[in-house]
Amino acid sequence: KDGFDLVVVANRLPVDFTVGPGGHVEWNRSPGGLVTALEPVMQASDGAWVGWSGAPDLASEPFDADDMRLVPVTLSADEIERYYEGFSNDTLWPLYHDVISPPTYHRTWWDAYRRVNQRFADAAVAQVAQGGVVWVHDYQLQLVPQMIRAQRPDVRIGFFNHIPFPPLELFQQLPWRRQVLDGLLGADLVGFQRAGDAANFIRAVRRLRAHTTRGPMITVPGEDGRDRHVRAAAFPISIDSRRFDELARSPEVQQRSREIRADLGDPDIMMLGVDRLDYTKGIRHRIKAYGELLQDGRLDVEHATLVQVASPSRENVDAYQELREHVEGAVGRINGEYAEIGHAAIHYLHHSYPPEEMAALYLAADVMLVTALRDGMNLVAKEYVAARSDDHGVLVLSEFTGAADELSSGALLVNPHDIDGMKDIIVAAAHMDHREQRKRMRRLRRKVLNDDVAKWSQSFLGVLTAMPSRVPHRR
Ligand code: G6P
Repeated sequence: KDGFDLVVVANRLPVDFTVGPGGHVEWNRSPGGLVTALEPVMQASDGAWVGWSGAPDLASEPFDADDMRLVPVTLSADEIERYYEGFSNDTLWPLYHDVISPPTYHRTWWDAYRRVNQRFADAAVAQVAQGGVVWVHDYQLQLVPQMIRAQRPDVRIGFFNHIPFPPLELFQQLPWRRQVLDGLLGADLVGFQRAGDAANFIRAVRRLRAHTTRGPMITVPGEDGRDRHVRAAAFPISIDSRRFDELARSPEVQQRSREIRADLGDPDIMMLGVDRLDYTKGIRHRIKAYGELLQDGRLDVEHATLVQVASPSRENVDAYQELREHVEGAVGRINGEYAEIGHAAIHYLHHSYPPEEMAALYLAADVMLVTALRDGMNLVAKEYVAARSDDHGVLVLSEFTGAADELSSGALLVNPHDIDGMKDIIVAAAHMDHREQRKRMRRLRRKVLNDDVAKWSQSFLGVLTAMPSRVPHRR
């Protein structure tokens, strides 16, 4: 065997390394939507996964775990600062999320981004079999498709962008916009969450690269003078829906869910927010609306409570530190003002939890608040639905999520910038009768249980492998 038929390339390996006291390396599952989405695919197809360990300067040979070959890419502390915290999460992340926070442009960050992308590409090239498939993921690695193609015209290359692709008017701020588009156009298939993201990409390619496009097809002049065709289309990602459904049906999780409600003082209405602590998630807007509802007397702490899980994320980036201070200040003020002994207004949890605990929280929550200002998909919305095998609970969902494109028939959609509108929707959700809840939740569950992550990856890989490969095998 000359290599793996399927090689996934993503910034993170599906495990985190920690170096124990004796200097030995331990690994644990790492959080994040991407890992949840791809693990089942990889286990089913015997592939390799190229990614970063999450720690600085950790050099490790490839090893097998959970039926996959894991191939660690080493990053220095300086590269973590410039490639990961810098260019990925302080330039691209805010730029691609509607500049909610102002993006920072630094040439030294771009240099590190290029260098690190080349390292990921080289690692993938070393693993992939002749004529195999490489599937590159997300905004951290947009140059990798072109870098792989330059060395291996025999492989099929897919790229999937898990976050939004911005409108041209924002994307064109990026000083390296042409290089990024050329990097992506090294792929045969470029996938996005929403049709609007694919349209934004195609428009950017036409305007900034002057390539011809026809529907989803982009014609790119090849190095050898022959044209290549790149397809750009939407493949909305999902979750392992069965797993959440089954978890939520287990007696342990149901018991835990009852305990959670009892520990909260058996409120009439438990509301829940679950997010990485990220400024794109609209946590501030949600908390503001909730605080005003307490102030207005439309909700009160004897009957209602909000549980906000905010898992720690990208804590070295300034915008995330500022957000944390703001959120914690607001929670403190609201609790100080409205809480009573035994009745917190907001239970704020700056932790991440295992899936069992998440399922119990989802099952306990009467109202799920997903109020992102911009989100590629938002898997929390789908997890909540998958966990509600009792057909109860109300999903309040921001219009600015990819999930809103799919779940509008059962969710209550909100514009999180419209605080008054959001307050009305939250109150309506809190008072929705059980018949209406059941009707809506059934619609949502049909969608989420049917379109799961296995279907997503099969559909992406199906389109990718069906594309004509015009390069004869070499070597
Ligand atoms: C989003 C991104 C992923 C990323 C995850 C966690 O879901 O699309 O690429 O892995 O956030 O963020 P982190 O920076 O901790 O990997």
